[in-house]
Amino acid sequence: MKKIGVLVSGGGTNLQAILDAEKSGIIKSGSVVTVVSNKKDAFALKRAENAGVEGVVIERKAFDKAQDFDRAIVEHMKSRGVDLIVMAGFLCIVGEELIKAYPDKIINIHPSLIPSFCGAGFYGLKVHKAALDYGVKVSGATVHFVNGVVDGGKIIAQKAVYVEENDTPETLQRRIMEQAEWVILPQAIEKLCSAN
Ligand code: GAR
Repeated sequence: MKKIGVLVSGGGTNLQAILDAEKSGIIKSGSVVTVVSNKKDAFALKRAENAGVEGVVIERKAFDKAQDFDRAIVEHMKSRGVDLIVMAGFLCIVGEELIKAYPDKIINIHPSLIPSFCGAGFYGLKVHKAALDYGVKVSGATVHFVNGVVDGGKIIAQKAVYVEENDTPETLQRRIMEQAEWVILPQAIEKLCSAN
């Protein structure tokens, strides 16, 4: 059984999808042992609590250097014996310290079909606004490994979702979450946990 550490910043619907998938048996080769939020008021922490999973706050502003923030996350994950780190709506960019400590063991969910609408500055609703402004007819979500390039690591899974006529960033975000993110993230986690 692999130990999973989840990094969150906000509402935590992807965290919920992971916790639900564990319960329903979609994820059977791993278990969430800790949830780390960089925001102390993130609703994701409540979801962790409701599921009986430890929730911890590690704030970027508690550290002068980004490197020290990364190191604190590494130390916490190591202390819990975490094998796989899942960035589920974690809106901080992680640095070398963390990436080197967990090579090919950190994955992220991004709400577009990479390489479209990704990279620094593309997060949350901004991604969906950019997709609608461009006028694409299909968007979706991507699960990928985290390396030194923002949203640039090897792709693990993608799912396409149609854009509809009167979509707003909010309606598109919701459809992509429901049809793609909450489906492919748990599947990718099980695939990685069962692999080695
Ligand atoms: C999700 O749509 C996730 O894909 C996105 O933030 C949202 C978090 O929602 N992540 C990014 O934009 C990363 N670049 P959640 O907290 O409800 O899971």
